[in-house]
Amino acid sequence: MSNPFREDLVSRNRPEACSIVIFGATGDLTHRKLIPALYNLAADGELPPQTKIIGFARREKSDEEFRAGLEELNRKVSRTGHNEEIWNSIVQNIHYHTSEFTDADGYKRLAERLDAIDAERGGKGNRLFYIASAPEFFDEILISLKQAGLNQAADGCWARVIVEKPFGTDLATAQHLNRVVNDTFQESDTYRIDHYLGKETAQNLMVLRFANAIFEPLWNSRYIEQIQITCAENLGMEGGRGGYYDKSGALRDMVQNHLLQLLSLVAMEPPTDLSADGVRDEKVKVIRSLRKWDTVEKVTENVVRAQYTKGSVSGKVVPGYREEDRVNPESQTESYVALRLMIDTWRWNGVPFYIRVGKQLPKKGTEISVHFKSPPGVLFNALPGGVPGCNVLAIRIQPDEGISLRMLSKIPGTSLRLEPVKMDFQYSTSFGKASPEAYERLLLDAMAGDATLFARRDEVEEAWRFIDHIENAWHQSPTPPPMAEYVAGTWGPSAADELLDADGNQWRRI
Ligand SMILES: NC(=O)c1ccc[n+]([C@@H]2O[C@H](COP(=O)([O-])OP(=O)(O)OC[C@H]3O[C@@H](n4cnc5c(N)ncnc54)[C@H](OP(=O)(O)O)[C@@H]3O)[C@@H](O)[C@H]2O)c1
Repeated sequence: MSNPFREDLVSRNRPEACSIVIFGATGDLTHRKLIPALYNLAADGELPPQTKIIGFARREKSDEEFRAGLEELNRKVSRTGHNEEIWNSIVQNIHYHTSEFTDADGYKRLAERLDAIDAERGGKGNRLFYIASAPEFFDEILISLKQAGLNQAADGCWARVIVEKPFGTDLATAQHLNRVVNDTFQESDTYRIDHYLGKETAQNLMVLRFANAIFEPLWNSRYIEQIQITCAENLGMEGGRGGYYDKSGALRDMVQNHLLQLLSLVAMEPPTDLSADGVRDEKVKVIRSLRKWDTVEKVTENVVRAQYTKGSVSGKVVPGYREEDRVNPESQTESYVALRLMIDTWRWNGVPFYIRVGKQLPKKGTEISVHFKSPPGVLFNALPGGVPGCNVLAIRIQPDEGISLRMLSKIPGTSLRLEPVKMDFQYSTSFGKASPEAYERLLLDAMAGDATLFARRDEVEEAWRFIDHIENAWHQSPTPPPMAEYVAGTWGPSAADELLDADGNQWRRI
């Protein structure tokens, strides 16, 4: 079976065949995510024939050795399994290029190689550069691409760049990287990846809100009491991750990008159209409207940071954060953060948005929950048991992507008593197939020139501006807020519960 490209599936811009050059191609991301994503696109008939993949890394390898390593992992992790015929339909288009990121000659040789591969295997010269290296090389790679003329496409072709996370470590570094990117590629050819935006449920947020007449009229401070976003991980610093994480922390690693992106999709105004800029114009307004706190005391009142201590997760005893491999024993980096955010717009006046993210929590899961106000109690409050809770719309981003609506119902029988019931929709059962991996959709969109699900320059910078003002209160104040503790395997510090208690609310159990 050759690559069964199905034009009928394409309901958006058409993805165009190109050479995808992956910088950092012997790394974890390429093996576990990018190649399986491209394989699955081929299996689903969505990868344009003549798409070529060129891995760029410093280790000496032949094309055959590179292909064998990718195949071995694809067999283990591919969403659609591993079919020899599908693999054979793409493997001849996978190549490996050995070079140091810092070697200018390596980029010149890359340019010649790309032309030679096009000449040999057919291709008109479209180029997609995927920077999947450690962040300290982002600048170097971009500047070298420009010096080798690879940022310029031949007539009638395009050259685009995808940049992995983290996009900067604060506003100043993000602005610097943006200057380098925009000095090399047009903004419209720049794709800053946030893989949360490629998740099916994140994309479905706009459909849920704007294609269903029943939600949008209620989507405001008149009917919504509070919104929560939880991103829980049941892992710590395994696999040597401590070295990177200890320099970053939960706020910068997760909130600046993934959680503020989810927040902006939940809270934005309806865009005037579905164009990339139409959607991103509205998202950035949300981030810009986040209330900032002008004193350390106000930051402390609204943001809780914490580290885990020794405990037990999934039945296994795990060390405390400061005892983890490659973590400073006196670290002031948070493995957990909870925030109470206010969005100063007419729509969200007075509605708290609670966000929490942490490591070594009892289970893995990301969920957005929209808590509606209770109706007036005149009818049912006097019943035995009263009114047990309010309507909650829960949007599960991962795992088990889906949506559930909590409603109140009468318990069958002769007496009148109320109990919550759940209407539940799961992607896997409703559509009879697993959702594509986020990287599948994002790679295809970049090949199609659709940047809607990628962060724009101003979004990234606004998010850093917001994060920086909290980081500054934590690290530059003579009286920094305290670092709370939580036992690994619990749902975070008591201070995070108190943050919601103060408003008469509670965290939802995910
Ligand atoms: N892994 C994930 O699941 C994941 C998820 C989200 C985002 N990311 C982001 O993706 C990026 C890559 O992550 P990763 O986990 O794949 O990293 P990794 O496993 O450490 O891989 C790094 C890659 O860079 C290459 N490299 C390092 N120094 C080089 C040099 N001087 N010249 C040429 N090549 C060099 C390595 O090649 P050699 O093997 O030849 O040394 C390897 O291919 C990071 O920005 C990370 O934040 C990763």
